[in-house]
Amino acid sequence: MLKGKRVLLGVTGSIAAYKSAYLIRLLQQEGAEVKALITDAGKHFIGIDTLRALTGHEVYTDNFLTDGAWRDSHISLAEWADVYLLAPATANTIAGLACGMAGNLVTSTALAFSSHRIAVAPAMNTAMWCSPAVVDNVSLLRRRGVTIIDPGEGSLACGAQGTGRLAEPEDILAALTAILVTNKPLSGVRIMITAGPTREWLDDVRYISNPSTGKIGFSLTRAALAQGAEVRLVMGPVNELLDDIIAGAELISVESALDMQREVSAGIDTTDVLIMAAAVSDYRPVVRASGKIKKDKDVMTLNLVRNPDILKDIAGRAVNCVLIGFALESANHLENAQRKLADKRLDMIILNDPTSFGAETGSFTLLMKNRGPICIDQASKDNLALSIMEKIADILKERKRTDENN
Ligand SMILES: Cc1cc2nc3c(=O)[nH]c(=O)nc-3n(C[C@H](O)[C@H](O)[C@H](O)COP(=O)(O)O)c2cc1C
Repeated sequence: MLKGKRVLLGVTGSIAAYKSAYLIRLLQQEGAEVKALITDAGKHFIGIDTLRALTGHEVYTDNFLTDGAWRDSHISLAEWADVYLLAPATANTIAGLACGMAGNLVTSTALAFSSHRIAVAPAMNTAMWCSPAVVDNVSLLRRRGVTIIDPGEGSLACGAQGTGRLAEPEDILAALTAILVTNKPLSGVRIMITAGPTREWLDDVRYISNPSTGKIGFSLTRAALAQGAEVRLVMGPVNELLDDIIAGAELISVESALDMQREVSAGIDTTDVLIMAAAVSDYRPVVRASGKIKKDKDVMTLNLVRNPDILKDIAGRAVNCVLIGFALESANHLENAQRKLADKRLDMIILNDPTSFGAETGSFTLLMKNRGPICIDQASKDNLALSIMEKIADILKERKRTDENN
């Protein structure tokens, strides 16, 4: 099942480290090539020679070269591997991953992987596993899209009974296979979705915003994940964040249009498809007053300045990216949407109207380059999202064909 796949195994300082030897064998029997990294604490629990003999590769332990020889760095290891498996993962290393620590090779290497290519198999005593700090750290990693291979229940090395023992190697293999072997149409495609409203602050207690609830963004995220995509969700302030969504996607919370622009810009170079579903405020106050503006005038004039058109601005830079926008129009719907499609050089634009704000269903029109409009009447936002994902898969296939013919 794992023929041709490359697994980087990070071993940390848990008594369960001895199980990594069997895990390496299992992975190899499935056809995977394995390289191992180990923390200093990990070396107390399994010999480097064992790992070296089993993997057939140098075992990486240190960030720094001491003998002048060339070794793979955390970056080249991340480029080499399809997946980074931390098994067993200690409470300490999990905390390091959650905080973005880069104090040793095992944690610094994790920073060079996208969350979706990391799987963590924790192993620790029950009290540690249930401690608020570990619970929070594990849930943060899940929210970023890291696969957590939950520990099992049974007798622990410390003699106690409870949850915390490293998942069985067979279960770890199954979880890795699920990450690595997929026949989903958007498998490996990196999709960035913006959603929700933005807030533009007038002073410290008031802002301009709109009633967007982020529902389309959630539906798009769910549909993209189901098709195997890696999702980065850049979300404006919404009342509710859905746990099942956040668990699979990398969530970036933002407030203002400028925050959103910064995050989109930061992620665009590692994005294959950008879907701008956010209801971005067109204008923001020229200045944000400090404190609370006094109501000492009968008529007050707000000076507003245009916010950037995030999608239009990014279009020039994101030449290889599939660009998808939403157009909310209350008049001349088709005409305006067609113009935006051309002006912003988009691959697709989804036309909707103000009644879809916060609603479960709506009527939408999909407009694409060189194709007639596709009307989706009174559909749920989940169904709309599925149609959009199908079209994205078509666009990507078409691009691949064109590239191959050139
Ligand atoms: C005998 C022994 C067994 C340990 N087992 C575990 C364990 O199963 N899980 C854990 O989180 N920490 C365990 N620890 C503590 C870690 O080894 C310690 O926190 C260490 O700093 C982890 O470093 P690392 O994450 O860089 O490998 C154990 C320590 C000892 C001495």
